Amino acid sequence: MNEPKYLKKEEIERLLTYPLNEEEIIICRKNHLLTNVREHIITGSREPGSIYFKTQDGREILDCTSQAWVYNLGHNNPDISYALSIQSQQVTHSWSYFLTPVRVRLFNKIAEIAPGQLKGGKVSVNNSGGGWALECAIRLALINNKKGNQFIVFRRGYHGSSLVMMGASQRLPMRFSGFGQDHWMRNFFPYCFHCPWNYKEGFSGKRDKSCNLECLEMVRQNIEMFPTGTPIGCIIEPMQGPGGQIPAPVDFLVGLKEICKNNKILLIYDEAQTGFGRTGKMFGTEWYESTYNKDISPDIMTLTKGAAAGVPIGITVASTKLRTLTEFEEHSTFASPPLAMAACLVNIEILQKNNIPQNADKQGKKITSHIKDLSESIPQIGDVRGPGLFIGVEFVKDPDTREPHNQLLEKMVHVGWKNGIFFGEQMQIMSTAGYFIQNTLKIKPPLIINDEETEKICELFEKTLKESIKSL
Ligand SMILES: Cc1ncc(COP(=O)(O)O)c(C=O)c1O
Repeated sequence: MNEPKYLKKEEIERLLTYPLNEEEIIICRKNHLLTNVREHIITGSREPGSIYFKTQDGREILDCTSQAWVYNLGHNNPDISYALSIQSQQVTHSWSYFLTPVRVRLFNKIAEIAPGQLKGGKVSVNNSGGGWALECAIRLALINNKKGNQFIVFRRGYHGSSLVMMGASQRLPMRFSGFGQDHWMRNFFPYCFHCPWNYKEGFSGKRDKSCNLECLEMVRQNIEMFPTGTPIGCIIEPMQGPGGQIPAPVDFLVGLKEICKNNKILLIYDEAQTGFGRTGKMFGTEWYESTYNKDISPDIMTLTKGAAAGVPIGITVASTKLRTLTEFEEHSTFASPPLAMAACLVNIEILQKNNIPQNADKQGKKITSHIKDLSESIPQIGDVRGPGLFIGVEFVKDPDTREPHNQLLEKMVHVGWKNGIFFGEQMQIMSTAGYFIQNTLKIKPPLIINDEETEKICELFEKTLKESIKSL
């Protein structure tokens, strides 16, 4: 380990590890540009790699959010910490046009594990995350098809909060809108539980048996008969995360791929939340392929979140048939981040060597089946969706009308915290009238949870739900 040269070890430790005092916190709240930071302060984890985080007031909370679905290997995973310290002794930054050892190994690894037609594909990495990875995909589409500059996007989709990606995303409660709104052709997303064609048996991400995929026909018509411009790319989360944990039925994705191919539209999968083991497979694309034996793989895929198990990274993987970008077309100062790449490389090794996606599949099935059993006697549980640890529980006021139960979700998060468990929420879907929908609870703990911890989640979910309903 390098010895400090300019400061004493204790000076560095004091800055980074000493407990905060009240005065510092009060001043920080005044200094904060973001106004709604929560009152709780996260200070660490129960132990390295734990699914519990600790708070300043001495509590230990079971994290069903993996802190924005990022800590797939638990909070402060020790292997990742070790990788970071090793990498920090070598290279922590370089111009983005230089290769570094970790960059070579990571790019080769990602190309090797990429699904379907992306296997052996071309890789780009950034230090920002999913929004930037998608902007890279958009730039790629623009240089590969100069005939247009429109992109198909979907209702309830979320692709980031940069001023470009905001436009591609479902509108959020913000006081401004994204730039370049004319670039997006918004379409139906196949949300079977609320099917506008009234097929009632669309549960758990599977469509009603009698459904004729009218939603897909709608997309085809929008693209082929009533386009608002020339679409050159189609950005979709194959399983929507922020919008409410909604996996698209496989036949929709098969049909979408066909429509894109016929119309020379590049298919871009945003696997920000479904990548790196969360669904029970390394990628959501792979989950569909292995479950249904259908190749739905896209032309471009973007990744972030759990990719580096707690270190910021965004990744774009593109098919080899595409023209590549120049250093000016895909550029940022930190576009070759060695620390993030080291964490990502080690993360992939851990996921593969320890069969962690399989664990996500096993533990996820236990949680979803427990909640499905509960739904027999608790009518407010409208739908329970997976796969793996990509779990959404949709609350309704009435199982027949399926009217969203926003209040129950709010209660669950609140009561859950009191019970020592932190649940996630879908993003708010806003109407122009100010009415909003936010009724799907997310259960997305680190993928390394063991049997006992899974049982704890089931127990705390049940307890929290019963208390929440009682207190409404
Ligand atoms: C599906 C999806 N795509 C894209 C993004 C944007 O990623 P980032 O916040 O890293 O830009 C997110 C972030 O929540 C996401 O959930």
